[in-house]
Amino acid sequence: MTELANKNACELLDADHLAVKHLFVEYARLATPQDPGTAADRKALAGRICAELTVHAQIEEEIFYPALAPALGKDRDLLDEAKAEHDQARQLIARIEGLKEANDEMDALVVSLNQAIDHHVKEERDELFPKARASLDLAALGQQLRKRQSELEGRKA
Ligand SMILES: [Fe+2]
Ligand SMILES: [Fe+2]
Repeated sequence: MTELANKNACELLDADHLAVKHLFVEYARLATPQDPGTAADRKALAGRICAELTVHAQIEEEIFYPALAPALGKDRDLLDEAKAEHDQARQLIARIEGLKEANDEMDALVVSLNQAIDHHVKEERDELFPKARASLDLAALGQQLRKRQSELEGRKA
C-alpha cells in the first residue's frame, strides 16, 4: 500500500482497513447481476484482498499486538479473541485462494470474509486502538509496522 510514510501505528492500520474495505466494495460491484467485470477481474481482486489481509494480520500479530499486550492488563484476552478472528479470516482466505476461478462460491466466501473483517475491525477500533493511543509510542510503532509490511510485500519502506 502507498502513502503510509508518516502515519502512526493506528493510522497505518486503519488506512489498511479502509483500503481493503474499498476492495470489498469493488468486488461486490463486480459481482452484481449487471456485472461489468469478468470472472478474471473478480479472481484478481479476491487475490489482492486475501494478500493484503494476510500481511495486515501478520504485522499486527508480530508487532502491534505484542506491543499492546502489557498495556491491556486483565483485558489481554482481547488479543486472544483478535487472533482467533484472524485465524477464522485465514480459513476463509485459504478457501478463496483454493478456488481456480471466480464463481458463486467465491462470491459468497468474499461476502463472508467482508462481514468477518467488518466485525473484527470494529473491535480493533473500539477496544484496542484507544488503549494503544493511551499507552504506546505510536510513531515508533508505526515505523516498525511499515518496515515489516514492506518486507512482506517485497518492496522498500
Ligand atoms: Fe486484526
Ligand atoms: Fe486490523
